[in-house]
Amino acid sequence: MLGPPGAGKGTQAVRLAEHFGVPHISTGDILRRHVSGSTPLGLKAQEFMNAGKLVPDALVIEMVKARLAEPDCRGGFILDGFPRNLAQAEVLAGITSIDHVVYMFLEPEELIKRSEGRRVCPKCAAVYHLLSNAPKAAGVCDKCGTALIQRKDDMREVVEERVREFEKRTSPLVEHYRGQQLLREVYASGIIDEIFHRLLRIVKTP
Ligand code: AP5
Repeated sequence: MLGPPGAGKGTQAVRLAEHFGVPHISTGDILRRHVSGSTPLGLKAQEFMNAGKLVPDALVIEMVKARLAEPDCRGGFILDGFPRNLAQAEVLAGITSIDHVVYMFLEPEELIKRSEGRRVCPKCAAVYHLLSNAPKAAGVCDKCGTALIQRKDDMREVVEERVREFEKRTSPLVEHYRGQQLLREVYASGIIDEIFHRLLRIVKTP
């Protein structure tokens, strides 16, 4: 799943993973778990994440290689937020083949609104939005009952930096994967269910 911050990659990746019965592997979620557990990786990654910058490749690549080597990935997986640049894409190509690169795109102002209104569960990583995807009880995760929080990198200035970082470092992957005929482009505006059905049609088409 490729796309700027707030496009809805994580929201759709969770649904696709459930639908196909494969793991959802989000590098952002894995990194956030390291940060909240204050692991050596988390301590190194957090300053980059809080500033809206990409975490250095050396840290992320080893983490992804280890995750993809786990037995639950043998039957496939949905990778969300990796690769983020050409160096990561080359490493991925050396580890596994991929069937589709789903590129979700949206207007910059909508990206900011989605990120600013996002609330997440610090325990199970479920994602909500104050207006468009609210939990049943305000401020509480539907799935595990934990109090929801706002991500530190969802403040407007940091979101803007993340959008710039996407444009500069990640967007070259669009042409890279288009050249390999793997790119599936999806306009990410509309209600969540509608986009999910759009995605299903795309990834089911050979
Ligand atoms: P990461 O967690 O991957 O963040 P991101 O790519 O910036 O994406 P987001 O999680 O912000 O957005 P999303 O597209 O998943 O949207 P969501 O579904 O939540 O990465 C965070 C940081 O980790 C990076 O900045 C970097 O530092 C580091 N990192 C991660 N991977 C890395 C890598 N490979 N290399 C280096 N560093 C890495 O939706 C957004 C909101 O909109 C939610 O509130 C949701 O409820 C709502 N929403 C979703 N769909 C809709 C809809 N259709 N209509 C209305 N609202 C919607």
